[in-house]
Amino acid sequence: MRARAKPATRPTVRELIAHGARRFARARLFFGHGTDNAWDEAAALVWHALGLPGSAGAEVYGRRVDRARVAVAEALFARRIAERQPAAYLTQTMYFAGLPFHVDDRVLVPRSPIAELIERRFAPWITPSRVRRVLDLGTGSGCIAIACARAFPRARIDAVDISEAALEVAGINVRRHRLTRRVRLVKSDHFAALGASTYDIIVSNPPYVAERELAGLPREYGHEPRIALAAGAEGLDSVSVILAEAYRHLRPRGILIVEVGNSERALQRRFPRLPFLWLAFERGGGGVFLLGREQLGTASPRAEARRLPGAGRKKA
Ligand SMILES: C[S@@+](CC[C@H](N)C(=O)[O-])C[C@H]1O[C@@H](n2cnc3c(N)ncnc32)[C@H](O)[C@@H]1O
Repeated sequence: MRARAKPATRPTVRELIAHGARRFARARLFFGHGTDNAWDEAAALVWHALGLPGSAGAEVYGRRVDRARVAVAEALFARRIAERQPAAYLTQTMYFAGLPFHVDDRVLVPRSPIAELIERRFAPWITPSRVRRVLDLGTGSGCIAIACARAFPRARIDAVDISEAALEVAGINVRRHRLTRRVRLVKSDHFAALGASTYDIIVSNPPYVAERELAGLPREYGHEPRIALAAGAEGLDSVSVILAEAYRHLRPRGILIVEVGNSERALQRRFPRLPFLWLAFERGGGGVFLLGREQLGTASPRAEARRLPGAGRKKA
């Protein structure tokens, strides 16, 4: 049977989502910015059009939707298809670690699996009660820094980004979550503006997309800031700086957690002596490693990292 082009006059929430999901499937959209399927993407837009709270669940599926709200949802579906903008940019909202964040195209859409680690307070890798200082390197919307502030109520967080525009968005979120006293926004190229500051946890979702991969990404990624994605020929420019400098900024027994996505294999080739611990996630995702300060010290990534193009020298 052919799918209907229009939803029923007063569809239920479920019917409206199903209608949007069918349109998305026909348009062959890409999903990867907080959802991984047409249904969830349509649901995010319907939730927004209906002004439903994030806490609402399947209990609202049977509700009838009036014409005006159907029109709002239809307009969002149409923009999602025509402009290929991720739903989060259309709704300007994204949840991360159970918390709502303002997002727009000045920042990456929050979706890092690191959220799961924060929800577990990085157990069993650190003793939560002793965490006093956390660094979020490449903070974007501030999602990781803010979620860490919530997870570690006695900690102060430095949230660093090189992008002024991203820091503006992070500022909106820090104020929204009333964390201005504990989350400090710092404009910096990696560690450059941090002096001799040291941390119990350094966590980062840096740019890590290799040049060739970037060119082939679906259109949805084109709406995200290039500086949030691009990381040189192999995707290692940013992580190599982090590996070279992290030891100096970690406290004894401190930990470094970095997401490198698809660049995992290239990273292992570059740093064969580093004992990366690749973390597993219940909700999907991967390419996130953990290293303890002592491991960084013994394997001497500084020496290896200095040989990398992103760390100051040209590739041979
Ligand atoms: C992949 S995004 C991550 C954003 C956010 N942490 C998240 O997980 O959604 C990477 C961020 O790193 C920032 N960035 C890129 N190069 C940087 C540098 N050299 N120093 C500091 N931040 C940088 C970008 O502006 C971007 O906000």
